[in-house]
Amino acid sequence: MATKNEKLRIPPTLMEIDHILGVFSAKGGVGKSVMSVNLAKSLVSKGFKVGLVDGDIYGPSHPVLLNATDMQLNVTDQELLDPLEKNGLKFNSMGFISSEKMPVIWRGPMVSGAIMQLIAQTNWGKLDYLIIDTPPGTGDVQLTLLQKIALTGAIVVTTPQDISLADTKKGIEMLKKLDLPILGLIENMSFFKPNDSDKKYYLYGKEGGKKLAKEYKLDLLGEVPQFEFNNSNLTNENEIISKISNKIVEKIVSKVNLLPSKNKNEIPQINT
Ligand SMILES: Nc1ncnc2c1ncn2[C@@H]1O[C@H](COP(=O)(O)OP(=O)(O)OP(=O)(O)O)[C@@H](O)[C@H]1O
Ligand SMILES: [Mg+2]
Repeated sequence: MATKNEKLRIPPTLMEIDHILGVFSAKGGVGKSVMSVNLAKSLVSKGFKVGLVDGDIYGPSHPVLLNATDMQLNVTDQELLDPLEKNGLKFNSMGFISSEKMPVIWRGPMVSGAIMQLIAQTNWGKLDYLIIDTPPGTGDVQLTLLQKIALTGAIVVTTPQDISLADTKKGIEMLKKLDLPILGLIENMSFFKPNDSDKKYYLYGKEGGKKLAKEYKLDLLGEVPQFEFNNSNLTNENEIISKISNKIVEKIVSKVNLLPSKNKNEIPQINT
C-alpha cells in the first residue's frame, strides 16, 4: 500500500479545491447517493462553491437525483472534462456520457481509472468543497480512491439495521486505518412517520446509528426518515430532507474548520 507521502503530486484540477469529502458506507443501497446530492445542494445554498462526483461507474444515479437526465458531458479527446452545472452546483457522472463517448473514459485502468478521471481530470476551477459519492462496496475501488486522493474527511452513511453487520465496523476501521478524519455518521431510513400522524415507526430497529456512533466515538450528524417517494423527490425539493441536510452541513462545515491545519489547509493531492 502506498503511504500518504509517497509520490504525491497535485493535479492542477484539484489545486483550487479547499476540501474534498468522501461519502462512504459499509453496505450498498443505504443512501450514499441521495445524501451526497443533498449535502452538495445544502452547501451550495449556504453560499459555498461546490462540486459533486458520482463514483458509481456502473450504476450512476446522479442524473436522476439531480433531475438532469437531459444533460450530457462534452467528452473530447482532450485530457480534461468540463463539469456540468445546474443551480450553482458543478457535477459529473458516467451517467452524463453517451455510450459512443465511453471508450474515451475507459482508457484508464478499469473502474478506478474512470473514477479518477471523473475526480481529477475535470476542470473544477475554484471550489470550497468537492463531494465524492463513493461507489457501492467497501473493496478495492474505495481503497484505491483513499490511497490516491488526500481527502479532508469522510462521512459515513448507515441504516439502523447495519449495526448488526460486521461490515459497517469494517468500513469504519478501514477509514481509521488510513488516518482519515471521520466527520460523522448519518443514519438514513431511521424511522417512518406517516404524514397524518406523529407516530414514528422504527422499521429497521431503533437507535442503531446512535449506538454505532457511541462505540466509535463518532458524531451522529443526523437521522433521516424513510420516505415513500421516488428518487427525484428525495433531494432538497423535499422540505424535510432539505432541513435535515442543512443541519448536517452546518455540523460538517464547523468540523472541517476545527480540523488541525494539516488537514484543513492541505491541498488535495494525488498518489501516483
Ligand atoms: N430516506 C429514504 N427514504 C426512502 N428511500 C430512500 C431513502 N434514502 C434512499 N432511498 C432509496 O434507497 C435506494 C438506495 O439509495 P442510494 O442509491 O442513495 O443508496 P447508495 O448507498 O448510494 O446505493 P449504492 O451502494 O448502490 O450506491 C434508492 O432507491 C433511494 O431512492
Ligand atoms: Mg450510490
